[in-house]
Amino acid sequence: MERSQFKVLVLNQISENGLKRLPTERYAVGKDLSEPDAVLVRSADMHSLDIPPTVRAIARAGAGTNNIPVKAMSQRGVPVFNAPGANANAVKELVLTGMLLAARNVPQALRFVHGLDPAMADMDKAVEDGKKAFAGFELAGQTLGIVGLGKVGCLVADAAIKLGMQVLGYDPEITVDAAWSLPSQVKRAGSVSEVLRSANFVTLHVPLVDATRDLVNADNIGTMKPGAVLLNFSREGVVNDKAVLAALERRHLGWYVCDFPNGVLNHNERVIALPHLGASTREAEENCALMVVDQLRDFLEHGNVANS
Ligand code: MLT
Repeated sequence: MERSQFKVLVLNQISENGLKRLPTERYAVGKDLSEPDAVLVRSADMHSLDIPPTVRAIARAGAGTNNIPVKAMSQRGVPVFNAPGANANAVKELVLTGMLLAARNVPQALRFVHGLDPAMADMDKAVEDGKKAFAGFELAGQTLGIVGLGKVGCLVADAAIKLGMQVLGYDPEITVDAAWSLPSQVKRAGSVSEVLRSANFVTLHVPLVDATRDLVNADNIGTMKPGAVLLNFSREGVVNDKAVLAALERRHLGWYVCDFPNGVLNHNERVIALPHLGASTREAEENCALMVVDQLRDFLEHGNVANS
């Protein structure tokens, strides 16, 4: 049997429509291939893997590349492709969901309703009690601080403005002529500290690098407004969990909404922790797969290196 021209090792489930772009007459695609030419990955941690010397490219169906040993690969001359922006709308929608869940006390209200006995005598009274106990506040008129004005940050800003929020944005790297379009109503802050002390909601959209590790920490979390809501849909290490727990316990922080389950915080009633769901929509998974598969093909078939 004729050997396929290229072998692509797939480490995670990748959208079918993306994989269909690798024609079977030229590509062998699977999770148990030896001597692969390329690796297609989503969230699998590749730092501890022995990456075969035959691998000439790695494609990550997502924006962040911190599950890949990018430096070691670049020393081997192996490009790492990713899909910046391809799942941004999905992340934006979950950030808005998190803000609304917190503002309207939905997690507590749901737990309360789940605990009601359907056979109880005075259901009307219980509903009335719940209505009082879980009254919330509206997003309109609140200030949202955004740290990181890449595509997700810009989309969140746009949606928040449409909901009637004031938006304060900070990004040390992006100038006014950002690649993504930042709505003109966004006020630019001069520092993370300014965002933390000025906003009722603060959402973080930065990659995890040395400069962003523990960006929100024990020293600055106390400068946030009392009752503020902190949202972290970027990476776990960007926020110091112990600082969050302490701030929740002294009732300074109103809520912590994050996209990572966390042993210390999971069971706190003021934490909404999700299992990294930001990019988990049909649409985002497909967009990411299509973007990186096209880059991979362009590289394997024509030697072009785009966006690595
Ligand atoms: C990303 O970096 O875009 C996300 O981690 C994607 C994902 O959840 O796969």
